[in-house]
Amino acid sequence: MIQVDGLTKRYAHTVAVDHVSFSVEKGQIVGFLGPNGAGKTTTMRMLTCFMPPSDGTASIAGFDVVKQPLEVKKRIGYLPETPPVYPDMEVGEYLQFVARIKGVPEKEVLQRSQEAAAKCFVKDVWSKLIGKLSKGYRQRVGLAQAIIHNPEVLILDEPTSGFDPKQILETRDLIKSLAGAHTIVLSTHILQEVKAMCESLVIINKGKIATSGTMEDLTRRNGAVMEVSVPEGALGAEDLSAPFSSLEGVNGVTATNDGGLWRIDVDTVTSEDLRPKLAQIVLGKGWNLYRLDSAAVSLDELFLSLTTLSAEEVKQ
Ligand SMILES: Nc1ncnc2c1ncn2[C@@H]1O[C@H](COP(=O)(O)OP(=O)(O)OP(=O)(O)O)[C@@H](O)[C@H]1O
Ligand SMILES: [Mg+2]
Repeated sequence: MIQVDGLTKRYAHTVAVDHVSFSVEKGQIVGFLGPNGAGKTTTMRMLTCFMPPSDGTASIAGFDVVKQPLEVKKRIGYLPETPPVYPDMEVGEYLQFVARIKGVPEKEVLQRSQEAAAKCFVKDVWSKLIGKLSKGYRQRVGLAQAIIHNPEVLILDEPTSGFDPKQILETRDLIKSLAGAHTIVLSTHILQEVKAMCESLVIINKGKIATSGTMEDLTRRNGAVMEVSVPEGALGAEDLSAPFSSLEGVNGVTATNDGGLWRIDVDTVTSEDLRPKLAQIVLGKGWNLYRLDSAAVSLDELFLSLTTLSAEEVKQ
């Protein structure tokens, strides 16, 4: 339903989005997760035809965002970072106005507006001026305008930002209930949000995709921990970690001497279970293997390790 290939946005001094590629199947709900400034909003603006890419392509339901923007816009509902609401309009009036702009047939305008208002919990403020609403309520009106024409695809930029905890739970339920009938991409910088709602996840950091996959795949990602003994001699931590570092999918290796046995922690960023390969290396070196376990890496740790600045980067 959504296909993104090498999407790139360059500003004068920044590459905000750097060759991002991913695809989303029909009916799926995908979380676009990244810290502030990662490039989430910029990617969404390109997907919704608000801004042309510098490079790469994106298509929605087979329609190219650059070549066929009208076809794309018909099929998407977009909730931008700042909801596109008019402060001097009443909620009901605004929703009907948007419904007309989006081509809802006149005889369905009122009903569709009321349905969207009910789904997004703004029915009770139907006759209130938008300018007098709280931030959370304005956000809900923003969500209502995004779904009003029953689009195939919903692009939601931080849909629960500004909500209180009860509203967050209600909105998550609402978004989950919209998946299936709609294909949804939502952005957030909160991992909890993705865990609660999404089937798959794209982690973006500094404009680049750090990792992506189904929640199941990503939570299954493992590290491994081994205990080995090596013949007496001059082997140090460096010599012990080096053979594992070059394996594909290994992110980092640390070796510590633990009362005569060496403990080697191997951090992997692959869904492949690397234990057989690790065992082969140990035996090939003539070391004795006392323990080889997989060590589950939690999604929280994975997200932190992929998006936290290294000490060198912080200094710069
Ligand atoms: N109009 C612009 N001109 C120049 N640089 C921009 C512009 N818009 C965004 N950027 C830069 O592009 C990068 C990505 O910004 P973007 O708004 O896409 O991040 P984000 O992931 O949505 O962040 P946040 O979580 O804070 O909303 C940032 O470094 C930002 O400063
Ligand atoms: Mg943003």
